[in-house]
Amino acid sequence: MDKVKLAIVGCGGMAGAHLNAYIRLRQKGIDIFDFVAMCDVDAERANAFAVKAANVQESTPKVYTAIEEMLGKETLNAADICGPHFLHHSLAIACFEAGLDVIVEKPLAVTIRAGHKMIESAKSHQRILAVAEQVRRWVSSRTVEWLINKEKLIGNPRMFFRQGIGGPQKEPENRLRDESMIWRRNKFTGGGNGIIDGGIHYVDLLIYFFGEPDEIYARSENLNQFQFKDADGNHVPQTVEDTALATITFKNGVIGQWVSTSAAPGRGMSYNSYHGSLGSIYSSGGYPQSPELQLWDGTKRDKDSLQNAYMESLSEGEKERVFPHGITEGVELEVYDFLDAVRKGRRPELDGVDGLKAQAVCDAIYESGWCGQAVKFDDVYNDEISGYQDEINERWKI
Ligand SMILES: NC(=O)c1ccc[n+]([C@@H]2O[C@H](COP(=O)([O-])OP(=O)(O)OC[C@H]3O[C@@H](n4cnc5c(N)ncnc54)[C@H](O)[C@@H]3O)[C@@H](O)[C@H]2O)c1
Repeated sequence: MDKVKLAIVGCGGMAGAHLNAYIRLRQKGIDIFDFVAMCDVDAERANAFAVKAANVQESTPKVYTAIEEMLGKETLNAADICGPHFLHHSLAIACFEAGLDVIVEKPLAVTIRAGHKMIESAKSHQRILAVAEQVRRWVSSRTVEWLINKEKLIGNPRMFFRQGIGGPQKEPENRLRDESMIWRRNKFTGGGNGIIDGGIHYVDLLIYFFGEPDEIYARSENLNQFQFKDADGNHVPQTVEDTALATITFKNGVIGQWVSTSAAPGRGMSYNSYHGSLGSIYSSGGYPQSPELQLWDGTKRDKDSLQNAYMESLSEGEKERVFPHGITEGVELEVYDFLDAVRKGRRPELDGVDGLKAQAVCDAIYESGWCGQAVKFDDVYNDEISGYQDEINERWKI
């Protein structure tokens, strides 16, 4: 295949970051795709994407408000799906049935069952299913994985901790809140809130660093009980968590705790750390974007020293594989990986199974909170425990 004929489906916030990343690839002379169509139920959004795309190619992509019409009329190789979570599976399956390869934003699907349906459909139509996951592609994430698993500088990995503690700093008891994306605060459309939304990037890193999880015990709460105004002005309640406390064990013996809350006004904190038999890696923030190494003997190394050492450790071939064309920006890397996989018919770095594994940890947190017991990762991944997800599956007939 010379150039990938590409459509973006769902032209909202994150799709804008994808569009900009594709445009930057072209501006770098990486001429491996053409935008053929833009699809959103909101025609204005799709049109704005088409206009922007036309600045970097000769033709203007066609605009559609229904994926069925787009798939019926256009000749396409691939779709980049950035719709709300509850539509990921039906949009992706429509694309597979029309012969397209797909990259879908995280989380893979609204439930584990929906994710399995996507994986099965991709397999039966012999199509690529990639999950968009930019955080593990950052130089800082690659560096931490190298430190833990290749250099083994912290010794045998033992524990991790992640605390993300914050809360409303204005009128904490005022339940009525502004929110432009109400679908994210609804169990049926979002599947969950912070854990399965932004939190899934953190889980993907844990799997990257430590392998497959074993067991999850969690409490999950909706403490703020916020409400939002919908398009008709009605007050609709949040029906997903704003707080979760989880203990997660891994099959390699690593244990750790993850606390995520937006219901704790006052002094907040945000850090993550990874501990082994010889020392630790600490970073402020939600991901290890500023890693600092400290060993038992007092040795300390900062982010620049660690990242430089990692980059210098890479052979030219490895560098081209991990940072092709010298790209180091996460979204550019994920869309490039997808386009290259489509052109070569190869596996993308993160496929549907990888996406579903990260999602299964998030759903295991919800399932454990739902049943009040520890749950096995494998049981949630295999859809053998689904009490929390059952009403979502029923609602969308999944
Ligand atoms: N990787 C990241 O850092 C990151 C950040 C934000 C969001 N996301 C993910 O991106 C996805 C989209 O989130 P967002 O923040 O862009 O949401 P959004 O609400 O801004 O965008 C969703 C878009 O989908 C459109 N849409 C709805 N139904 C559709 C349909 N049937 N066909 C076509 N389009 C339809 C909406 O009109 C909207 O424009 C989600 O999976 C979200 O988790 C990822």
